[in-house]
Amino acid sequence: MRIAIGKALGGIAIALALASCSGPDAPDTEWPLHGFDERAQRFVGLDQINSDNVERLGLAFYHDLGTDRGQEATPIMVDGVLYLASAYNVVQAVDATSGELLWEYDPQVRAASARGCCGPVSRGVAVQDGKVFLGALDGRLIALDAQDGTPLWEVQTIDQSDPLAENYTITGAPRVVGDLVLIGNGGAEFGARGFVTAYRAASGEQAWRFYTVPGQPGVPDNAASDSAMEMAQETWAGEWWKYGGGGTAWDAIEYDPDLGLVYIGVGNGSPWNHQMRSAGEGDNLFLSSIVAVDAKTGEYRWHFQTTPADAWDYTATQNIILADLEIEGAMRKVLMQAPKNGFFYVLDRETGEFISGEAFVNVTWATGLDPETGRPIEVPSARYYRTGEPSFQFPSSGGGHNWPPMAFSPDTGLVYIPAQDVGMPFASAEEEQVIGAYTSGVAMDGGGAMTEEEREALYAGMKGYLIAWNPVTQQEAWRVNELAPFNGGVLATGGGLVFAGNTAKELAAYDDTTGAKLWSFDAQTAVSAPPITYAIDGVQYIAVLSGWGGGWPLTGGVMALQAGKAVGPNRLLVFALDGDQALPPFTPPEAPQRAIVSARPADEAAIARGNQLYARYCLRCHGTGVVSAGAYPDLRASGMVTGDAFAAVVLNGALASNGMPGFEDKLTPRQLEDIRSFIQARSFEDLAQP
Ligand code: HEC
Repeated sequence: MRIAIGKALGGIAIALALASCSGPDAPDTEWPLHGFDERAQRFVGLDQINSDNVERLGLAFYHDLGTDRGQEATPIMVDGVLYLASAYNVVQAVDATSGELLWEYDPQVRAASARGCCGPVSRGVAVQDGKVFLGALDGRLIALDAQDGTPLWEVQTIDQSDPLAENYTITGAPRVVGDLVLIGNGGAEFGARGFVTAYRAASGEQAWRFYTVPGQPGVPDNAASDSAMEMAQETWAGEWWKYGGGGTAWDAIEYDPDLGLVYIGVGNGSPWNHQMRSAGEGDNLFLSSIVAVDAKTGEYRWHFQTTPADAWDYTATQNIILADLEIEGAMRKVLMQAPKNGFFYVLDRETGEFISGEAFVNVTWATGLDPETGRPIEVPSARYYRTGEPSFQFPSSGGGHNWPPMAFSPDTGLVYIPAQDVGMPFASAEEEQVIGAYTSGVAMDGGGAMTEEEREALYAGMKGYLIAWNPVTQQEAWRVNELAPFNGGVLATGGGLVFAGNTAKELAAYDDTTGAKLWSFDAQTAVSAPPITYAIDGVQYIAVLSGWGGGWPLTGGVMALQAGKAVGPNRLLVFALDGDQALPPFTPPEAPQRAIVSARPADEAAIARGNQLYARYCLRCHGTGVVSAGAYPDLRASGMVTGDAFAAVVLNGALASNGMPGFEDKLTPRQLEDIRSFIQARSFEDLAQP
C-alpha cells in the first residue's frame, strides 16, 4: 500500500493541527517492505508530525530488546504489529501501539556469532501473506508464522560441503519479490564467493541462484548466472577461486515490478588486495557493481561497476533507491546509490546507463568519474600493490557511506545521506594470509603502532555528516556536522522532516530543506538503525531500534568513546506527538581504570608483531587500539590476559559458546605471547597511574 499526500493537503493538515490539540487523523499507514515500498525511498507522506509541531514529539512507549550487540534492523509494521530483528537474529513481534511483546523467536546463533566481520547483527525481516522471513547468521533462511512465530520451513542457503561454509554469514534482510524470497550473504573477508538465491515463499524450494563472481574455470555452477559468469571470467586472472573472490551481496536487493528487474548491490573483493586476488589484472566483474537480473529467472540483464578492480573494500552493497527524475528535460527511471567509494551515482534503471556521478565526501583515490562511462579516474598512488608504497586515502574501508540507509524525499528532491570522512592507509600485507582467517591481503594495524599524537590527529580528522544531496544537479544542498563518524540510517517524511540517529546517542529530526535541527531525544546509546514511520487509529508514530555495535567498534572504538560512551541499553523506541513516557535512568558502565601490568613489556619486536596479529584476529570484536566500544570485554582491563586462562580462552576456546572463538588452528603459542605483549603495552599506555 502506498499513500501520497501532496504539499497542499499537508498545509491544511498543519492548520488543523494548530486548531485542535490532538490534530487531524493520520491515514492508516503500514511500513510493509524494507525500504517502505518498492521504490525503497524511505519516504512516507504522513505529516501529522511536521516541522511546525515536532517539538511536541515525545516517547509514546519503549520495549527492551534483551540483547547486547549492534542494532541495525529496519522494523516492518503490518496489521498493527511491529516485526523486529535484533542482535543474534532474535525476532520479536510487538504491538505497534503499546510495545507489548506478542511472541519471540530465537534461531540460536550465539555459537556462530564469532563468524563474520562485523558482529551478530541483522538488518531486518521480510513479512508477506502471514509469513515472516528471517536470514540467520549461520546461513539459514527461516519462515515463521506471523501469528505466533512458529517455524514453517527453513533452508540452509550455504553449501555445507564447501570447506569455507562456516565463513559465510547472513546479516541482510530477505526481500519478498512476487512469490519468491531473495537472500544474499556476507563473508568476503574470509574467503566467500558471493551469490543471491531466490526461494519459493510458500515452500522454501529453490527457484534460482545468481553468483556474483566466477568460480573455478571448468567447474559448472548450473545456476542462472552461468552465461553472465562466462563474460565475468574474462575479467579475472590468477587463481582467484582459491580466495573465494568475494562479491557478497549482504545488503541492498531491490525490485522494480514494472520492469520485472531485481537490482543486486555487490560487495568487495576477497581478499581486498587485487594483486593477491587476481594477479593485479582485470576489472573483476561483478565486484563493487550493481547487477540487474530478471526477477522471475535470475538471468543477467545489465550491470554497472562502481569500482573496477576493487582493492579497498569499496562495496556497492549500500542501499539502492528507485525514483523517476526529470533530467535535462526528460523523465528518467533512475536508481541511486552512494556506495562506499565516495561517489553518488544516478543510473538509468532500465538499461544500467550511467547518467551522472559526483563525489559526495572527500575522495582522494580518484579525481572524478569519466563523464561518458562513469569509470573512476584513479590516482596512480591508490594502487598500493603496484607502487609498493602505502596509500593513505579517503574514504577508508568503512566507506564514505556504509549500510545505514539514505532516504529520498520527492517533496524536496533531495537525498539524505549518513556520510563520513574517514581516511585509512592501504598497503600490501607482508605476513602470510590464512584463508578463512581475516584475509584482506592488506596490512592491518591494531591501533598500537602509531604515536599518541598520530592517533589523535587521525581521529581528529574523522568527521561524520548528514548530507542533503541533489541527485539532478549532483550538488550538496546542506550538511549537518555530527559529533563523530558512523551515524544512523535516515527517514524522510511528508511533514518536512528528516529523522536520523547518531553516535552522540540521539534520535534527531531536521528540517528537510534547511537542515536545521528541530528536535532530538536522548536514547542513552548510539542509534545506528534507520527509523520508520506508520499510522494506526489516526496517530502517526516514529519507531527506531537503539543500540551500538556491529562493525562500528572495528574502526570506531576510540571514536565512540570520543563521542561519549555510545554503549547503552538496546531498545525499540516509539514516538508520537505529546508522547509523555520517559526512559529509566541509565548509568554508563565505568571506563577501565587500572593497567593490568606495572611496566610496559620490554620486547618491542614482540609488541609490534602482536599489533599485527591483534589487528587480524581480535580487532573486529575487541576494538581499535584495544579500546572496547561495544559490549565486548575491554582487554586493557582483563586480568585474564596476564594469567594462564589467556591460553585456555584464546587458543582452546573456553568461552566459545559465548561467541569468543578459539584460535588453536590459527595461532601458535608464540604468537599468543606476542598478542599478550601488545595488549599489555596498550593497557600500560592508556591506564598506568602517573
Ligand atoms: C568474534 C568476536 C571475537 C573475536 C574475533 C575475539 N574475541 Fe575475545 N571475546 C569475545 C567475546 C564475545 C568475549 C566475552 C565472552 C564471555 O562473555 O564469556 C570475549 C572474551 C575474551 C577474553 C576474556 C576477557 C575477560 O576478562 O573475561 C579474552 C582474554 C579475549 N576475549 C581475548 C581475545 C583475543 C586475544 C582475541 C584475538 C586473538 C580475541 N579475543 C578475539 C569475542 C571475540
